[in-house]
Amino acid sequence: MIDWSVVANELIRTRRVLATHRDFGTAFGVFHIKQPFVPRLRNKRINLPTVVRLSTQIRKNGAPEDLPQMTYRFLGRSGLQVSAISLGGWLTYGGYTENEKTFECMKAAFDTGINFFDCAEVYASGKSEEVMGQAIKKYGWKRNDLVISTKLYWGTAFGDNPVNNKGLSRKHIIEGMDASLKRLELEYVDVIYAHRPDRQTPMEETVRAFNHLINTGKALYWGTSMWDADEIAQAWRYADKLGLIGPVVEQPQYNMLYREKVELEYAKLYREVGTGLTVFSPLAQGLLSGKYKNGIPDDSRLAQQQVEFIAGWWKRTGKEKFDETIQQINQLEPIANDLGIKQSTLALAWVLKNPHVSSAIIGASSADQIYENVRAVAAVDKLTPEIMDKIDEILNNKPPALVERY
Ligand SMILES: NC(=O)c1ccc[n+]([C@@H]2O[C@H](COP(=O)([O-])OP(=O)(O)OC[C@H]3O[C@@H](n4cnc5c(N)ncnc54)[C@H](OP(=O)(O)O)[C@@H]3O)[C@@H](O)[C@H]2O)c1
Repeated sequence: MIDWSVVANELIRTRRVLATHRDFGTAFGVFHIKQPFVPRLRNKRINLPTVVRLSTQIRKNGAPEDLPQMTYRFLGRSGLQVSAISLGGWLTYGGYTENEKTFECMKAAFDTGINFFDCAEVYASGKSEEVMGQAIKKYGWKRNDLVISTKLYWGTAFGDNPVNNKGLSRKHIIEGMDASLKRLELEYVDVIYAHRPDRQTPMEETVRAFNHLINTGKALYWGTSMWDADEIAQAWRYADKLGLIGPVVEQPQYNMLYREKVELEYAKLYREVGTGLTVFSPLAQGLLSGKYKNGIPDDSRLAQQQVEFIAGWWKRTGKEKFDETIQQINQLEPIANDLGIKQSTLALAWVLKNPHVSSAIIGASSADQIYENVRAVAAVDKLTPEIMDKIDEILNNKPPALVERY
């Protein structure tokens, strides 16, 4: 026999629910869900047996109870809403993060209200799409609660001859999409990206091919990644001329160390064609979290020399440049301390402060990193103009503002 008063008092004590009707003697006391651990139930009235069922879920969930409520932003000019923080699988999922950890991360993300997951055909030669697709199946999430994206361009792992398995030809876009959907075990993705511009394929062919994916129900929106502003504008010119759909979103790198594309180059696109941004590497691959200030932790990304990209990164960057960057990043620590937040939270909140950013796509090798990073949603308002100026002084890389009229 359940003692409802004990259950109810415990849930109130741990601040999981607000009591609105303290009729603890029966199973029919009505409660308001307070914490966003089950986002769809927030602020709903529920009865005690439901509270009990949920409290079991909470224990399984393991997310800290004081996480802020996730916020959602429109993807540019579209009607699609994505969580301000999203999760991607590059290098980690299907790569240096074990599958069980990947599942944990995706579950932790979903539990915090993250609805947007990003992948690409090239990530871990398709294994990233496979494991992320498995997580979606494993947890039985509703497809309509999720926003899934993947990217096409580098499909060379899937053929014996690279020529037609790479780039943005109609052939690779259509064949690449079918292969990605198979790996993801999905009928469609929400957003399909052109992972880079293909300057050898006519733009009209590429625009028509992405529209074909939309018209055949394999993707709902299309976007670009690391395209130049004039290439995005050209895609829109073809789309407008042909009565087709243009790219609603661009996926560039954007973080405290890499700003020019987002803050200067794309400035006219936001107004002209309503480009939204889902920005990648918001922590500069973890550098901006401050974790490298005392050297390179064994379990960190930059220690993964066996990963081809990381070995190449070290060659391109060099130890001297790395040390210089770390010294600069260290100067941000007191600002984070004064605000009572972690350095990673400061870096992510700084990205989210830009109103053109629809979502910051983080990577994570543990659930705890996700919980920590989600806190950035609540820290955006702490970044006053004075603090933003202080940060700019340290970074010394603010691009000039666009001259509107001389
Ligand atoms: N379109 C493109 O060309 C492109 C390119 C790159 C990425 N992306 C997308 O963007 C996503 C994110 O990129 P990214 O992985 O470079 O993002 P990131 O968020 O800048 O870096 C993620 C890495 O930083 C570390 N980290 C995360 N949170 C941390 C915390 N709170 N404290 C300490 N360390 C933390 C983790 O690495 P460790 O724990 O292993 O050190 C994690 O894997 C990718 O998965 C992908 O979807 C797209």
